[in-house]
Amino acid sequence: MRKKIVAGNWKMNKLQADAKSLASEVVNMAGAEVSSDVKLILCTPAIHLDAVNKLAESSAVSVGAQNCHSKESGAYTGEISASMLADLGIGYVILGHSERREYFHETNAELTEKVNISLKNGITPLFCCGETLPQREKGIHFDFVKQQLTESLFHLSEEDFKKVVIAYEPIWAIGTGVTASSAQAQEMHKEIRNHLASKYGQSVADSISILYGGSCKPDNAQELFACPDVDGGLIGGASLKSRDFIDIAKSF
Ligand code: 13P
Repeated sequence: MRKKIVAGNWKMNKLQADAKSLASEVVNMAGAEVSSDVKLILCTPAIHLDAVNKLAESSAVSVGAQNCHSKESGAYTGEISASMLADLGIGYVILGHSERREYFHETNAELTEKVNISLKNGITPLFCCGETLPQREKGIHFDFVKQQLTESLFHLSEEDFKKVVIAYEPIWAIGTGVTASSAQAQEMHKEIRNHLASKYGQSVADSISILYGGSCKPDNAQELFACPDVDGGLIGGASLKSRDFIDIAKSF
């Protein structure tokens, strides 16, 4: 059985007091309302990781970063290393989010290094892929997404690959209120799983959780999560409200 995962990507939102209240609400509500077979992860701004991790300590809620640097340490002013995250007890890191690819020019090659350094430090990458609207309209969306996966993940050993979580986030659906239809999500998730199977075999591909991200909300999560190859969500806007985030986590 694949893990069901609902991860919140808070992006660059929440000051300290609000971050702590949101995390406490999620931890309390999760304990009371969310089935223990759904893994919840809060990916907070780096400056809140330690505080949120402490609030989540004795709960089943995990904490993740939204990025890390590709090198172990050194003269990289302003950056945070995977070993610093591991040192705080952070278990997950979002890598290759389309906002980082676009605004910070992250390439598939650089993401290869970030994936490696995260795994080396025992941190699970939530690896993002997804196409733009023009790419979808041209009909090159499957090839584009498969190339992102091939170039950043397919160097991994089977043992390491099995630790990765994939998030499909069509860029045209992020923060736009436009959601991929459940048919579009299922079609791409199936295509991704087939691609993973072509490299690692069907049983490994069947063990990898593939999350959907892009305007996933309480009112559409149920339909999306009912798709056979959708194993949960990476939630942006709706993860900033505890009620919405928990309702999404209850949508399986
Ligand atoms: P929204 O849920 O706000 O569309 O964001 C999705 C996302 O980018 C999650 O990483």
